[in-house]
Amino acid sequence: MSVSAAAIEALMQEHRTFAPSEDFVRSARVRDNSLYEQAEQDAEQFWAEQARHYISWATDFDQVLEWKLPFAKWFLGGRLNVSYNCLDRHVQAGRGDKVAFFWEGEPGDSRVITYQELLDEVCRTANALKQIGVRKGDRVALYLPMIPELVVSMLACARIGAVHCVVFAGFSAEALVDRITDSGATLLVTADEAWRRGKKVPLKQNADRALVDVKHEVKMLVVRRTGGEVEWRQELDSWYHELVPQQPPLCDPELMDSEDLLFTLYTSGTTAKPKGIKHTTAGYLLQAMYTHDLVFDIQPDTVYWCSADCGWVTGHTYIVYGPLGNGVTSVMYEGAPDFPEQDRLWSIVEKHRVSVLYTAPTAIRAFMKWGDQFPGRHDLSSIRLLGSVGEPINPEAWMWYRDKIGAGVAPVVDTWWQTETGGIMVAPLPGLLPLKPGSATRPLPGIFADVVDEAGKSVAPGQGGYVVLTRPWPGMLRGIWGDDDRYRETYWSRYPGCYFAGDGARRDEDGYFWFMGRVDDVMNVSGHRLSTAELESALVSHPAVAEAAVVPREDALTGQAIIAYVTLRSGFRERAELAEELRAHVGSQIGAIAKPRSVAFTPDLPKTRSGKIMRRLLRDIADDRKLGDTTTLADPEIVKELQARAHEERYSSE
Ligand code: WTA
Repeated sequence: MSVSAAAIEALMQEHRTFAPSEDFVRSARVRDNSLYEQAEQDAEQFWAEQARHYISWATDFDQVLEWKLPFAKWFLGGRLNVSYNCLDRHVQAGRGDKVAFFWEGEPGDSRVITYQELLDEVCRTANALKQIGVRKGDRVALYLPMIPELVVSMLACARIGAVHCVVFAGFSAEALVDRITDSGATLLVTADEAWRRGKKVPLKQNADRALVDVKHEVKMLVVRRTGGEVEWRQELDSWYHELVPQQPPLCDPELMDSEDLLFTLYTSGTTAKPKGIKHTTAGYLLQAMYTHDLVFDIQPDTVYWCSADCGWVTGHTYIVYGPLGNGVTSVMYEGAPDFPEQDRLWSIVEKHRVSVLYTAPTAIRAFMKWGDQFPGRHDLSSIRLLGSVGEPINPEAWMWYRDKIGAGVAPVVDTWWQTETGGIMVAPLPGLLPLKPGSATRPLPGIFADVVDEAGKSVAPGQGGYVVLTRPWPGMLRGIWGDDDRYRETYWSRYPGCYFAGDGARRDEDGYFWFMGRVDDVMNVSGHRLSTAELESALVSHPAVAEAAVVPREDALTGQAIIAYVTLRSGFRERAELAEELRAHVGSQIGAIAKPRSVAFTPDLPKTRSGKIMRRLLRDIADDRKLGDTTTLADPEIVKELQARAHEERYSSE
């Protein structure tokens, strides 16, 4: 595990800086260093003040932090309800008519939902969940497209103290089996079908298939989205449109302890088994609201749009809990950015006069590729601030985003964080910090991060190393569902007392962080985390495959592309059709995003004498680089063979 020297050098050549415009600074939420100073002086006091500022407590907390490494508890003794904080209090303050969501469906339908309407619908749904038998502490899996019912279901769970586990609707039935089984969810909320690029994705059918392999009984609540045909289990399935509207629009919010579980969200680790990351009530909500408010410089008239999917943590924190906690008006979009045309996002920005847009570098690079004419067709003058998340943003994409979407003046806030951190950790306060294209700048006030070498020593300015977080923070994960050992081992064993993020970064003379991607066996494809182990285990589950190794190849569009090296069992022939079949197999095991870009057959994999696959060499081959040290190889011939083959047409490509 070492951070790529090439990446360090490439980034070091970037010296442009962009101070915020006078115009921006005039109304900026943060204009001086006082938050940094307060947090530096007394971090616990700082967080206590933020917690009382952002959260409406039913019972105030009496202890800020209990830190029994690696388990943190924040705001002990406090009681609150997250849905109350996201809905009721805004309505009670007279803002019931404020729009919570401008929702745009992919086929062109749309809905406008006020805070009052959202509150009513959440209460009805909460009552429906209770009627189905869901109780406080029960897990509810949500497998839904980006329709308002997804947000409603999340908040309905929060209202009654049930734990939601959102599963990205692009995942396959098999991925759903693992997550429902591991979480022990007793209800699955899904839809008949989802829209994707004008086609219908059979969610209920996937769910039916998944439940065959789940050992415990799981009921279903089904939203009708497309009206497509579905199979029905009379005893166990209910239609959302039949059950929810008949419920009363009032439901008392369950009072939760600060440390009660709010949700789990599965993310890829370095083994084949996904990790159920646990987030609790108060600390997570605070991190979501505080970071959303200040990083996106929220104003009373902000129209905010995070284009992520609620299936990922970005959607949890920056579509649901941050914006609703802050009482902001958001846009929510159901579909693909190129449907029906490649200007869909820009037409929505124009329609709703969006002022803050938060998206991913992969999307930005796709927009660049599609061409300037698409944003050029629309009036984007409402844009005031732009955000980026999910992977390192290359300076070219950063500049394009600022110039073409932000009229050459909008600050671009690059935000570094993880499913595990709950919310943004490293990002600029845009009215204060000068920006550098490609840098997420500095840890936010109250967040303490460092870049260290192998031995755990802080690196000198300009040097690269491993990212660690040196103190607990309110939104931090509280563990992995059902696996405390793995939690300890993955995040807390490498450097004593520090959280190991698994990312490499360089820190420059100004203390700015330049993130360089993962240092472990986790890939980042279009901003989605995929584990090599998970992909490899999907490949070897195919009867033709004896062994597989998966490595990332650098890709201009998706950041990384998945390259699979496969050794076949005897009796199977290396054929293009089989490569295609294997790609499809991975797609069905995990989901379409996990399909390898190419599958290369090899008589053997390069291994050390102790039998460890040398992925580093495969990465070099995939990227067509000069090979590193091959002396530890058991059979050096294999590498030569693979290099020769790389030039042949044995690959199937998308
Ligand atoms: C990467 C997404 C560089 C990083 C919020 C991290 C980034 C992983 C950035 C977490 C960024 C996220 N710059 N890399 N601004 N944001 N990453 O859990 O490798 O889906 O560890 O959370 O994405 O991905 P996750």
